[in-house]
Parts: sequence; C-alpha cells; structure tokens
Amino acid sequence: MDRIAITGGARLEGEIPISGAKNSAIKLMAASLLTDEPLRLTNMPRLADTRFLGKLLRRLGTEVEESDGSAGAETLLTTREIVSGFAPYDLVRQMRASFNVLGPLLARSGQAKVSLPGGCTIGARPVDLHLKALEALGAKIDLHEGYVYAQAPRGLKGGEVEFPFVSVGATEHTLLAAVLAEGETVMRNSACEPEITDLADCLNKMGAKVSGAGTPTITVQGVSRLSGTTHAVLPDRIETGTYALAAAMAGGEVRLTGTRSDFIQALIDKMIEAGVEVRTHDDGLTVKRNGGRLKAVEISTDPYPGFATDLQAQFMALMTLADGESVIRETIFENRFMHAPELGRLGADIAVHGGEARVRGVSALEGAQVMATDLRASVSLVIAGLAARGETIVNRVYHLDRGFERLEEKLGACGGQVRRLKGEGVEPEVE
Ligand code: EPZ
Repeated sequence: MDRIAITGGARLEGEIPISGAKNSAIKLMAASLLTDEPLRLTNMPRLADTRFLGKLLRRLGTEVEESDGSAGAETLLTTREIVSGFAPYDLVRQMRASFNVLGPLLARSGQAKVSLPGGCTIGARPVDLHLKALEALGAKIDLHEGYVYAQAPRGLKGGEVEFPFVSVGATEHTLLAAVLAEGETVMRNSACEPEITDLADCLNKMGAKVSGAGTPTITVQGVSRLSGTTHAVLPDRIETGTYALAAAMAGGEVRLTGTRSDFIQALIDKMIEAGVEVRTHDDGLTVKRNGGRLKAVEISTDPYPGFATDLQAQFMALMTLADGESVIRETIFENRFMHAPELGRLGADIAVHGGEARVRGVSALEGAQVMATDLRASVSLVIAGLAARGETIVNRVYHLDRGFERLEEKLGACGGQVRRLKGEGVEPEVE
C-alpha cells in the first residue's frame, strides 16, 4: 500500500488551485439516475470516491464517460433506463454515500433494494432519518437481512418532512426523491450546507422545482420528468480549508484559487483569532504566516455555517503548536478524535474526554510513522508533518485518495516536501 512521506520544515509559497467538491460531486452523480437524458458534470474531482460511485452507477444502468474538457475534468452520465435497482452490501459498505441511490431509484422506477451502510470509524451513522423521510413521501420500506426493500409502485407522493436534527445526507436524499414525487414536499430543519444548494441548483437546471435550498425550509413542487443539463461542481470548501490550515502550519504565503472564501468563514474567523493573516479575493483567499507562535483558540463543530466537522482534525493539527490550551468540541460525530493519539506520536499533547479534546500546545513536533482511520484524520497528519522536525510517514494513503486530488503535487508546487512512496499489495479502493 502507498504511503506519504513528509519532510517537515519547508515553508509553503505559491498558489494552489482548488478542485470540485467531493461531497457535492457524489450526490450530483446520483442525480443522473433521475433522468434518461445525459447529465454533464464539469469541474469534477478525480477521486477514489467518484470512481467508486461510477462503478455502482454502471451496475444500475448508467453510462459513465470521463473526459478532460477545456474547463477541467468532466463526467458525462446517461441513464437511459434503470437496469437494476439493487445496490449490494459490498458496494454500499465501502462508501456510505452510495446509500443515496435509494431515493432516485425509487423515484424513477418505483422500487429498490439497497444495503444498509453499517457504522463507520467516526460514528454509528444510522440512516433512520433517510428512511423516515422516504416513508413520508409514500414509500413502503421493509428491512430484511441488512437490506432496505423500498417500494412505491404508484410513484412517490409529496409530503411534510420535519428532520429532528440537521442531517446533510438525509436532506440531500429527500431532495433526490421529492423532485419526482407527485405534489408538494416541504422539508423543515433541513441542512444548509453549500453542497445542498449545489444539488438543488443542478436539479432545477434539470427541470425540478426546488426553492429555499440553503435555508432550513426547502419546498419542492414535484414534476413528472427531468431532463439532462450541464452543471459545474462547486469548489471543495474542505479542501480549501485544509490547504489554508497547511499554509498556516508550515508558514509562508499561499493563494488558494478557484474557490469561495465565504464557504469557510467560520474557519477564517478562528484562524485570524489564532494570529494567521487571511485576505479574501473574488476567486479565493491568501493565507500568510511569518514566524511567531499562534495563539490557542477554542472551536466547536456545528452544521453549516458553523465550524465544519470535516475541518476539525486539521485545525487540531494547527493547535498542537499553538501557545496555550485549545479546547476542541466535536458535536456532529461521536467518535471523531481518532487522529488525536496519532498526533500524539508526533509529540502533541492532547487529552480527549468524550466529545471534547484539550490540546496543550508544545514547542515542536517530531516526525514519526503514523496511521489514520479516515480521510480528514489522514490529512491532519500530513499538515502536522509539514511542521514536524524530520520525516513523517503517513500510512494508509488510500484514505487520502478518497478526497484529496493530487495532494502531493499541490503541496509540492508550493515547496512542500511531500512524496508518495509506492507500496506493494492491493489498495482497497475506499473504506
Ligand atoms: C456528510 O455526511 C458528509 N459526507 C460528511 O463528510 C460530513 O462530515 C457530514 O455530512 C457533516 O457535515 C458526505 O457528504 C458524503 P449527517 P452525512 O447526516 O450526510 C446522524 C467526509 O469526510 N444521523 O449530516 O452522513 C449522524 O450519525 C465526510 O467527507 C442520524 O442519526 O452526515 C451524525 O451524527 C465524513 N440518522 C449526524 O446525524 C440519520 O439518518 C450528522 O450526519 C442521518 C444522520
């Protein structure tokens, strides 16, 4: 298996172009199941997760063609007909967002059999909200032997859905089903993440009638059919925040282009509070840090527009070298501090109690072999490695490949000493 080696101490100077958002791309790809016409997605990130979903969609009947157009990578998805409504355990277990094909399959063909995703390393992550919402739209749901059997032989019907708490996946899943339901659906306490707005924008271009996306109340007037369209995937706010934190950790000056600074305002506020210089532009932001120790600050993760849980591990890496004690609260997932003991192997001083981590800043980190159990945790170790003395080796790079396109190339172009060590053996595609 591949590993990433980082030699710490190099400052980062230069520009990093930001890719399309993984967490938007995979929901947009699922939207292609809703129409028999071609859906062309541009600004597509090329990641293990998008390749993986392509594989599942092909089994369901989608033709998936990847190409490199003038505006970057594109994927053309055409589902003339659904040839199978079956998403097996192996495919859903490996990437839980695959579960979101259930709603579109049901909406287009009236039936689906999709595996329950099971838990994952950051938390139990049930899908009860997804299933309740589909039932509110008239689906008949049965669970047998780890599978969801869903039926709506006379089509889905619009309904009232009130989420008991904010869920990105359940909001997107409901939207993907409601667009083809008969009548009006009102979704309350919906997630407001930019990826939801991106999905609604694409669905509207396909002929759907969605209003209120980006606010807690989304209203959908169902239509009987959707058409194809061309849609550019929005920039990846988590990749943006990750490189902003990498620049702050390594020192230097990095301009992040092709992105939106307003998507990471909560992070920018905390970086400025800690002592990092951040300037925003029309197409992104510049992050600068010249010597001097950063100040420890507190963060608490929250649904958008709060501090993103997907940036918590990377922020913790930054705080390991800050002056004072930082308190980091994780409120979205119950087990998302697996990176803390690995940062400890580099010399960080972190105490975790339940959903709270106390990070006491140390004066230096020292390179070591480390391993991570999820995507964002892995990249936090790369960030820490950029400032650690000597060499850090991050094992299980397949986690990184799920969500960070050409990481070593992007950091390397700014002077980061980051290289991939090719390994033996079969890479798990995703986990
Ligand atoms: C999405 O996961 C993202 N994944 C996650 O990014 C991200 O961390 C998360 O949203 C929060 O922002 C994708 O978009 C593919 P949720 P999702 O439903 O939709 C509980 C990454 O690294 N819950 O908003 O699964 C759930 O267990 C990934 O890119 C239920 O209890 O997150 C969690 O505690 C990791 N029942 C909370 O809600 C449900 O039916 C929020 O989860 C659904 C969720």
